[in-house]
Amino acid sequence: MKILVTGGAGFIGGNFVHYMVEKYPEDMIVNLDKLTYAGNLETCKPVENKPNYKFIKGDIADRDFIFNLFETEKFDVVVNFAAESHVDRSIEDPEIFVKTNVMGTTTLLDACNKYGIKRYHQVSTDEVYGDLPLDRPDLFFTETTPLHTSSPYSSAKASADLFVLAYYRTYGMPVTISRCSNNYGPYHFPEKLIPLMISRALADESLPVYGKGDNVRDWLHVYDHCVAIDLIIRNGRVGEIYNVGGHNERTNLEVVKTILHALDKPESLINFVEDRKGHDRRYAIDPTKLETELGWKPKYNFDTGIQQTIEWYLNNKEWWQNILSGDYQNYFDKMYKEKGRV
Ligand code: NAD
Ligand code: TYD
Repeated sequence: MKILVTGGAGFIGGNFVHYMVEKYPEDMIVNLDKLTYAGNLETCKPVENKPNYKFIKGDIADRDFIFNLFETEKFDVVVNFAAESHVDRSIEDPEIFVKTNVMGTTTLLDACNKYGIKRYHQVSTDEVYGDLPLDRPDLFFTETTPLHTSSPYSSAKASADLFVLAYYRTYGMPVTISRCSNNYGPYHFPEKLIPLMISRALADESLPVYGKGDNVRDWLHVYDHCVAIDLIIRNGRVGEIYNVGGHNERTNLEVVKTILHALDKPESLINFVEDRKGHDRRYAIDPTKLETELGWKPKYNFDTGIQQTIEWYLNNKEWWQNILSGDYQNYFDKMYKEKGRV
């Protein structure tokens, strides 16, 4: 099979590319990424010389480019990770979120419709369901929870999901959607909570916790998300949505304290700052459908996963320090342009 993975130089897409290239040597994995600020080819280093892997730089919202690519490559499966993914950035500048997350998705769908595809998989998020109250721990998001978004990011992701479902209903396109809770793990860009706190704590810098730190997120190790997507594209029913999450709810303050304790740093580094606008209170996934239909079971719980993640950040300082210094943005020129690979 020839599988197009978009956004494979980002956090989750990068982990998925590693997973697929290793697990399916007989499949060809094509990684298409625009290399925005969040795209980092150093993330793809472990697979860059594998015979079943290829990188292509490009924008999923560029119609001519995408249609030409589909005409030449004839993909069997498309897994769309490419997106603007940071809520805080979406509050500052929503437009690029519409362009990439909505129009990028419809461009890919149109190309799939024209050239044919065995499966289109949309990587979505639990944030499309909005949030849950803090005082109702009995409530969880299921696949039938109504869409009720809060941020420009989640609104753009929800719009994309609706287009995906429309292409199933209208054109009979073989689609699936996964809606996962917050991920953490290796290669996570250090603007998101966990890698930001690890990198700042290691530098003895203050840790900005929004509001009172009592917002709750349901954390899933990125490896378990990759396994879920692989199961869904192979065995999931077309036209269906699958929630992905492992019942690992923590307040932000608990997460930050866990990181500080693991690094032997003082809690005095915590700095409570102005809250995020429209800050979602609690996310919590009910993964029963994925577990019962597809037999998915997470390998990590938060305690084991966060230890593994912290160790990864300690052992791979160069990866995140290159991001903080901006050096990672030269990697494409060094590894591709100068070597005449593009
Ligand atoms: P990320 O920001 O780390 O990576 C996004 C990648 O997409 C980057 O490599 C970037 O260069 C690329 N990209 C952006 N715009 C592009 C475009 N127009 N064309 C081609 N490539 C483009 O994001 P992530 O955290 O890895 O998230 C990946 C996907 O998973 C997103 O769709 C996100 O909504 C979803 N998701 C994320 C989480 C999470 O906790 N991070 C949870 C659930 C779902
Ligand atoms: P984030 O990693 O941005 O993911 P999301 O907003 O998609 O859940 O943030 C996770 C939680 O951490 C969220 O409740 C906001 C909070 N947060 C902070 O308290 N401080 C920070 O510096 C950041 C980036 C996030």
